[in-house]
Amino acid sequence: MSARKAGLDIAKYIPEISRIKDRSIREKTSKVWSALWSESKYARLEDLTVNTSTKYPHIVHNRSVVVMAIEVAETVMKFHKAKIDMDVLISSAILQDASKLVETEPDGKGGTRKSELGGRFQHAFYSAHMALEAGLPMQIAENIMEHTFDNSSYPKSLEAKILFYVDQVDMAALGLDRWKKTGAVYR
Ligand SMILES: [Fe+2]
Repeated sequence: MSARKAGLDIAKYIPEISRIKDRSIREKTSKVWSALWSESKYARLEDLTVNTSTKYPHIVHNRSVVVMAIEVAETVMKFHKAKIDMDVLISSAILQDASKLVETEPDGKGGTRKSELGGRFQHAFYSAHMALEAGLPMQIAENIMEHTFDNSSYPKSLEAKILFYVDQVDMAALGLDRWKKTGAVYR
């Protein structure tokens, strides 16, 4: 019987998780990351790449998206008195891409390739599934689904819109934005 891989404390990589005030949301967010890590085939988190065409580590992108989401939210709250649920936003930003851990796998050459799960289902579906299974609010699962071009609908909540745009900004900063690559017009 093979031992199940130990979990992972995402707070070591994304300390901004401590900004989630609601203890239940904070703990469930951490639990989803840890569960996905245990399911993944990666030996080191640093081996998970932003996508299968680059060796750039995903976790740097993930943290940058979380930090940008917080700072953009604080800015629009300050200038426009916008109403933003920071717990929902931060949890969604931490989890949006966590299922890359199982949507991809090491290719044995220092890079990554799509797993069977990643080939069958749209990006982020499995993160959203795990979020719901952990008992996180549906709004968080919806934001996770809506952060990607693969989804069939626009981001609806302000939290989802912030997450969508900062994710695109970060991908553009890495030269990996899909607008440039595909010319897709977002639906
Ligand atoms: Fe993503």
